[in-house]
Amino acid sequence: MNKISGRSADATPHAASLIEGLRDIGYSLETALADIIDNSITATASNVELLSDTSRDEPAIGILDNGSGMSEATLVSAMRPGSQNPLHTRRGSDLGRFGLGLKSASFSQCRRLTVVTRRDGVLSGASWDLDWVASQNKWEIQILDYPNSVMWADRLGKSGTLVLWEKLDRLQGGTAADSSRHPEMLNRRLALAERHLRLVFHRFMGTAKGSLRLFLNGRPLKPIDPFATAHSASIFDPEDTLHLPGGDVVIQSVTLPHHKQMSLLAWDELGGPEGHLKSQGIYLYRGRRLIIYGTWFGLCRQSELTKLCRVRVDIPNSMDAEWAIDVKKSSAQLPHIVRERLKKVLERISEGSRRTYRRRGQRLVDQNRLPLWHREQAGETIRYRPNVDHPAFAEFAESLPEDRRQSFFNCIALVGASLPLDALHADMAGAAEQIVHDAVDEEALLQAVEATMGRLQRRGLVAAVIVDMLKDIEPFRSEWEATEKAIAKVLGGTTNHE
Ligand SMILES: Nc1ncnc2c1ncn2[C@@H]1O[C@H](COP(=O)(O)OP(=O)(O)OP(=O)(O)O)[C@@H](O)[C@H]1O
Ligand SMILES: [Mg+2]
Repeated sequence: MNKISGRSADATPHAASLIEGLRDIGYSLETALADIIDNSITATASNVELLSDTSRDEPAIGILDNGSGMSEATLVSAMRPGSQNPLHTRRGSDLGRFGLGLKSASFSQCRRLTVVTRRDGVLSGASWDLDWVASQNKWEIQILDYPNSVMWADRLGKSGTLVLWEKLDRLQGGTAADSSRHPEMLNRRLALAERHLRLVFHRFMGTAKGSLRLFLNGRPLKPIDPFATAHSASIFDPEDTLHLPGGDVVIQSVTLPHHKQMSLLAWDELGGPEGHLKSQGIYLYRGRRLIIYGTWFGLCRQSELTKLCRVRVDIPNSMDAEWAIDVKKSSAQLPHIVRERLKKVLERISEGSRRTYRRRGQRLVDQNRLPLWHREQAGETIRYRPNVDHPAFAEFAESLPEDRRQSFFNCIALVGASLPLDALHADMAGAAEQIVHDAVDEEALLQAVEATMGRLQRRGLVAAVIVDMLKDIEPFRSEWEATEKAIAKVLGGTTNHE
């Protein structure tokens, strides 16, 4: 390389300030833990245990694996920020890139990082202490004379590595004054991080031999599969592979089951704390490790209609530069050619998802199925209007003196005209599945069943056909058990609907 003409001057960074700066590149507890677990996976660990000790004055977190471990020389090199050149080619299974994660992730959470590792029967240990670096202003680590005295080092097996975080100044959650709450805070933060880890590493976890097993304080963690692969109602489109100069990109779109097809628990777990609206989108995996999820990368909006759509995109670690992968492995940019392909995929799947929802929408208001509400569309405007011809209304109206009938219809029209649309819009955009029908009491249901059945029977329909019709319309559908009882009463105590 040509030297620029001029004089040279030493520009070695100041250890004390640069190392403090390294703490603030935007990790959270969960992204920091994930970075440490990346290293365990690269070291072919099959067990990773997250440990926390909150019983002492100074709480600590440990990440213990049974991977290949390191020799002392490798450990010393691993402790160096920039231990490997990001431009060098790595094995396909290597989740690392920058030679930084161990240090930057750890410093983001603590002021003392100790690594104890065993390989070929030899135990080695080394520590970074930021207070020592600050006092010496030197890039200097301590090699431990007695690595086996480090907390949890006795739990290392034949080979493996323990990463220990102490002086957890960042995990005290702003309650530095009240140290009695630190343990509680730490445990709460770990519990929150748990979901992220179960999701990020779900493709490594499982019951098959050689799969990764993650534990939090001895409790095994289950993977969260964001595509509900085991559910028979998840629809997987065929894989689409893009052969690019840096490697293959594999795209697969998935439509999740409708929330009525799964238990509330499973649905909530799939949606996560932010809900399904925010967790739809592209799920980008680098070397099978989830790095970004719940975004359409600006390709379309996260809407209620596309909230069942998730697209799996797999990239190899040989394309980090094209995808602008960052140190935390939590941000990336779509290369142009992938963006164009994804646009097409999205057009197709969002149409499919819209159809799923529209079909359900139509079923509820189908003209032939005695809806209590009509949906009327004129140009751009959609109106919902109570169906005053519905037998439940019509029968009751007929029982009223003629001069009271119009007042009754006026009341019903008032209900229709005052649907709380603003509140509905807001709820539909956030938590549509939490909106439920109001419960109908037994007597009102019986009255509606009586009216509907009576009128339809007079039109010549047999009971079995009417029962079939009721199954599909509200309020009977949601209250089916009570409706069946009411039907039996109306039919004279018999459940034979013929
Ligand atoms: N649990 C572990 N088991 C074995 N070796 C490890 C472990 N953790 C770290 N190492 C070694 O330390 C090196 C440095 O790790 P570090 O996370 O800082 O960088 P990286 O993984 O190479 O890249 P990145 O910055 O992208 O994570 C690794 O390349 C690996 O050789
Ligand atoms: Mg790493």
